[in-house]
Amino acid sequence: MKTFYIETFGCQMNAHDSEKVVGTLVGRGYSQVQTPDAAGLVLYNTCSIRDKAEQKVFHRLQQFKREAGKGKVFGVLGCVAQQEGEKIFERAPHVSLVCGSASYTKLSELLFQIESGERRVTGLSLDTEETFETPLTRRDNPHRAYLTIIEGCDKSCAYCVVPFTRGPERSRTAESVLAEVRQLVDMGYTEVQFLGQNVNSYRDPTRPGIDFAALMRLAGQVPGLRRLRFTTSHPRDFVQEIVDAIDENPVLCNHVHLPVQSGSDSVLARMRRLYTRDEYMRRIEWIKRSHRDIAITTDIIVGFPGETESEFQSTLSLMDMVEYESMFSFKYSPRPNTSALTLDDHVPEEEKTRRLTIVQEKQRAIQIRRNSEMVGRVQEVMVEGFNQGTGQWIGRTSQHRTLNFTAPVERSPLAGSYLDVRVTRSSPNSLAGEMLTL
Ligand code: 5AD
Ligand code: SF4
Repeated sequence: MKTFYIETFGCQMNAHDSEKVVGTLVGRGYSQVQTPDAAGLVLYNTCSIRDKAEQKVFHRLQQFKREAGKGKVFGVLGCVAQQEGEKIFERAPHVSLVCGSASYTKLSELLFQIESGERRVTGLSLDTEETFETPLTRRDNPHRAYLTIIEGCDKSCAYCVVPFTRGPERSRTAESVLAEVRQLVDMGYTEVQFLGQNVNSYRDPTRPGIDFAALMRLAGQVPGLRRLRFTTSHPRDFVQEIVDAIDENPVLCNHVHLPVQSGSDSVLARMRRLYTRDEYMRRIEWIKRSHRDIAITTDIIVGFPGETESEFQSTLSLMDMVEYESMFSFKYSPRPNTSALTLDDHVPEEEKTRRLTIVQEKQRAIQIRRNSEMVGRVQEVMVEGFNQGTGQWIGRTSQHRTLNFTAPVERSPLAGSYLDVRVTRSSPNSLAGEMLTL
């Protein structure tokens, strides 16, 4: 029997790519197993956004060095595959397949070559107008479905590998996206999350009048859909119409992830982010003026080359102004092919660590305050499951907050159902409450 094991690193785009890869493999007669030891084919779907992420796959491969020649086949997929290409065969000679996400349409063909005994096969072309969608996609979550609407990225942020690992931007047609949303609802999914490196620059290739806001409006009307989310946004392409669309239709979740990266104009210019602090804050004002309580989350990089103490302070002051619901923060990590490599004046590692700690402590204080404001309020949650350890149900609000709650035994909720919960307690990273039983 043909068996495979897959481990996924990185972002939601990668998680969803793996669902498509799993579907492709199952379609070729493979069955998925839960450990690399039990598998004939071992796949790593990799991330190269920071050096640490990239090193993980090489550690994994190292562990299996001795398996080479014993009939087990190893494959590296995703961003490290695209970035390192055939060099992976040198570093890990037992690898047979190296394939970037822009070549997944050819995956079935590549697998056929491996099955026919070829020792090394690659899918590394970035020159593509294709997007990879397959009716075979095997989604992990039975209630919330990821759906790719746009792939690749045409921006050139100075620190970022993504344009090199995922290729040029290409949108799917609105017709195919909407058909899939309908199909997902028919299959029982009630929440759909649109995915893309920069969903805001979505434009239907066949009907250019349909931009991202228009697509959201159309998808939000699909009968039976309870929640529609999207990630991730580039502030430059984030327009007022997106907030208007959220305002108009409660199916569109009240959450916007709007990565700012830095609060300093000079750092933003060096990062080539294509917006100023003021322009970013204008978008925050649009969001805050909405009659819905839209949660705003972000990504921040500290220690970008040349970041001075006063530039760093600008990031802290922006955090005070926005008061994000949550945040991912990172130390700048130099990446291959990126233009930031040519900038001088790298910030010492200890200083990056110090700044990261300051950002994270500040954010923790903001979250403690903001989450405590939720106590007493009633929120609708989608039930994600039950935590045996705490005896609580796990719920997710439209704002994408975790709201754990208790329910009377005789009214045990079903995973995937929606219900109202009164928030009774808050902690820095989540809320707790009780199911309303009226
Ligand atoms: N170093 C550190 N963080 C990075 N990110 C992207 N590239 C780098 C890098 N070279 C962060 C950004 C982005 C998030 C997904 O990862 O904040 O929004
Ligand atoms: Fe990692 Fe970026 Fe690739 Fe996602 S797109 S897997 S975050 S490098």
